[in-house]
Amino acid sequence: MYSIVEKSESLILRLTTENDLDYVLSSENAPENNPYVTQWTREQHLKAMMDSDIYHIIICNTENYAVGYMIIAGLNDNNKSVELRRLVINEKSKGYGREVLRIVKRLTFEKLQAHRLWLDVREYNHKAQKLYKSEGFHEEGFLRECVFRDDCYISIYIMSILEQEYFKYSDCCIRG
Ligand SMILES: CC(C)(COP(=O)(O)OP(=O)(O)OC[C@H]1O[C@@H](n2cnc3c(N)ncnc32)[C@H](O)[C@@H]1OP(=O)(O)O)[C@@H](O)C(=O)NCCC(=O)NCCS
Repeated sequence: MYSIVEKSESLILRLTTENDLDYVLSSENAPENNPYVTQWTREQHLKAMMDSDIYHIIICNTENYAVGYMIIAGLNDNNKSVELRRLVINEKSKGYGREVLRIVKRLTFEKLQAHRLWLDVREYNHKAQKLYKSEGFHEEGFLRECVFRDDCYISIYIMSILEQEYFKYSDCCIRG
């Protein structure tokens, strides 16, 4: 039996098991994802899966077919600041990324009652930046050339949404 973390109409977020690790590793190494996310070893993923501060999640559709994975950290953070550390959707441009963000915001602010949800995104990842902004995230910083990869330095934006922004935004959506 899988441990379900959250659900929506079309997605199920369940905890990753060891049997999922080939899927996770092949997803983050796939050429369409690899430039945008950090690559970990199997051992690093296993360590994260055992960390009580982290949700290591497989994103499934309602037929229990994996469409991506993600890592959420900071579940016990003293500053009530939750990090969306990794997000990969393999079934792209079907609305899953947006739906996952909505579930993660609900989880962060309603279930975990955290104050802040943040993430980093690479400077050239315009698709993800646009998606995050449209879901209420604000750019709050730019870390210049802080990732070294393939002999290049990459800059990243830090983006976040706060509790009060989430509830205001949800109110607006409810009121239409
Ligand atoms: C970025 C990512 C998570 C988005 O998930 P997705 O399921 O593909 O995105 P969605 O289908 O929910 O689309 C979200 C928005 O992206 C934009 N978008 C969708 N497909 C696009 C495309 N081919 N090109 C540019 N923008 C596109 C649209 O603005 C869309 O908004 P809409 O609902 O108004 O149409 C996913 O593409 C992915 O895993 N990319 C590789 C890894 C990555 O970048 N991870 C994030 C690291 S910070």
